[in-house]
Amino acid sequence: MTSLANTSLNPAALDFLERIERQFHVDDAQLQIIVDQFLKDFEAGLNKNGQALPMVPTYVTHLPDGTEKGTFLALDLGGTNLRVCQVTLLGNQQVEMKQSKYRVSDALKTGEAVDLFNYMADSVDHFLTTTDVAPGAEDEDLYLGLTFSFPVDQTAINKGKLIHWTKGFMATNAIGHDVMQMLQDALDRRHIHVKCAALINDTVGCLLSHAYFSGGCILGAIFGTGTNGAYVEDFTKVTKLPKGAFEGTLPKSMVINIEWGAFDNARKVIPRTIFDNKLDRESINPRFQAYEKCISGMYLGEIVRNILLYLVDNSILFSGYSSKQLNTHYGFDTELMSNIESDKSDEGRTVREILTEKMGIDDQSIGPNDIAIVRWACKIVAGRAAKLSSCAVAAIIHETHCAEGNEDFLDVGVDGSLIAFYPGFEDGLRESLRTLVGESIEKRTRIGLAKDGSGIGAALGALGALKAERARAG
Ligand code: GLC
Repeated sequence: MTSLANTSLNPAALDFLERIERQFHVDDAQLQIIVDQFLKDFEAGLNKNGQALPMVPTYVTHLPDGTEKGTFLALDLGGTNLRVCQVTLLGNQQVEMKQSKYRVSDALKTGEAVDLFNYMADSVDHFLTTTDVAPGAEDEDLYLGLTFSFPVDQTAINKGKLIHWTKGFMATNAIGHDVMQMLQDALDRRHIHVKCAALINDTVGCLLSHAYFSGGCILGAIFGTGTNGAYVEDFTKVTKLPKGAFEGTLPKSMVINIEWGAFDNARKVIPRTIFDNKLDRESINPRFQAYEKCISGMYLGEIVRNILLYLVDNSILFSGYSSKQLNTHYGFDTELMSNIESDKSDEGRTVREILTEKMGIDDQSIGPNDIAIVRWACKIVAGRAAKLSSCAVAAIIHETHCAEGNEDFLDVGVDGSLIAFYPGFEDGLRESLRTLVGESIEKRTRIGLAKDGSGIGAALGALGALKAERARAG
């Protein structure tokens, strides 16, 4: 077993834990089946709406190369904070930025959508009145790129209806509505001279920003609170777009927002444990975001909590005692897992501190093997997440044929707390990627943190929209 070999656990307890660990194991053959399913689902999703994967056409048709210039506003909604930025693209792969953060309360996340959009407009207003903002292109209205990190059904670069909320948002009267229009209306009601020009998913922002700084990018991916990816697809393969959906000359390619968090909602290929099933059953969106629920920061801590409680109930952990915090739904944050796995010391002082101070476990109930068991639980859950993540990356390498007929580096732009901070996450992802695409391609894959995809990417999206508008106007 991974990390319990040196404990003094009795054979029955070890066997009990081993059986749990086996449930979290995904072998190479299963990983390959997942990649194959991804490829089938890509095709189905590009062909028709309402398939297993949304495969949202984003109406972004070019990747930047670092020479882009201009000043834009970016507004970023999708996590704990709302962010307003002014981004000046200087060309030569340089940018200047000013930004402010605004808290999004639970009341806003779960109240009336119009209040959420009013708050977004108020935040833009506050930013403009308190920051020394440079005028927009040719002193016209400022152009704004909105990074909206939820699944939308996009019908133009600046139009998209919310399909459903993810990541704990559930504001009412938003699903089926055009989120850009809702924002524009809220800005107009306040007479704020800002034009909502581009609607961008955070993965698209990540792809654009990484391409701006590195000159190319095959995939923009987020491994944070949620998980998702965006890539450049041949336009001819996006067969679901209705004729006339695209004004003017047809482009060669289009960026697709996969919304891969929804992969395997039908539960065909990812092996699941009772701990996943419990998480799903108790979530606000049962049977949705199946892949995301095995991978992302919003959920990993909850899976670990479910394991720990199961062990407590079986008197294998903490002498059979829990705590109020450990009994609380979502009471064990993924950040704690990260801190637990960062503590490599023998005695595990940080682990003990987290258990007693953050989780309220009585120090007296922590037995001699419990630190090792908690570490083990974090490791099997995060290890599986990293492995499963590699499948989506491998699927994109296959789908885009980007590694064929060349020896180039394959740049993948990433963002999110897991990939940026979780110890060993990227290594685990790479290890499985190697088995899926072979060592030479894995070595050529450069996974790099994208610089502020949600800010800079949104600005690049707004610039793209402005250019297209001008081209149409002649
Ligand atoms: C969720 C959202 C998706 C976003 C991802 C990462 O999966 O549905 O739009 O890209 O989280 O933030």
